[in-house]
Amino acid sequence: MKIILLGYMGSGKTTLGEAIAHLKNIPFIDLDSYIAEGENLSVQEIFSSKGEIYFRKKETLYLKELLQKEEDFILSLGGGTPCFGNNMALIKEATSLSIYLKYQPKTLARRLIKEKPHRPLLSEINDADLEDFIRKHLFERNPFYMQANYIISMDNLTEEESINE
Ligand code: S3P
Repeated sequence: MKIILLGYMGSGKTTLGEAIAHLKNIPFIDLDSYIAEGENLSVQEIFSSKGEIYFRKKETLYLKELLQKEEDFILSLGGGTPCFGNNMALIKEATSLSIYLKYQPKTLARRLIKEKPHRPLLSEINDADLEDFIRKHLFERNPFYMQANYIISMDNLTEEESINE
C-alpha cells in the first residue's frame, strides 16, 4: 500500500515519513526532493526562476508519475500539493491511506518562524503577521486536507507518539 502524508508547511511530513519508512521497512519519497531532482533545481529556485504556476504543473506531473508506480512507498507531499488541480482526487484513487498531520495555526507559526526565509510562500510575511497568514491559508486549504483518510491532531504529541498514531 502507498501511504501519503499531507499537511501544511512545517508539519513534519518528511521527518515522520522517514521514521515510519524505517520502522515499516518501505521506501520513503519526499515529493519536493523528487521534483527538485527531476528539474535539477531546488524548490526555491523553481519558484524564483520559473514561478509558482510552473511549479504546480510539475508538482502534478511528478505526483502522477509516482502514484502510477507498482511498488509501495511512503510519500510526503508538499504543503500545497493536495490543494491544486485534481491532485486530491488522484491521491484518493491511488491509495486508501492518506494521513493529514493537523496542527493549529499557533503551533505552525512557532514551528515555521525560523524557517520562513527558506519557504517561497512565507519569506515575505512579517513575523508578527505569520500566525494570521497561516490561519487564513489553512482556512482555504483545510477542505482539501480534510479529505485524507486519517486526520491526526499533532499539537500535543511527542515525535514517538505521532509515529505510533
Ligand atoms: C508549499 C510547500 C512546500 C513546497 C513549496 C510550496 C506550499 O513544501 O512544496 O514551497 O504550497 O505549501 P513543504 O510543505 O514540504 O514545506
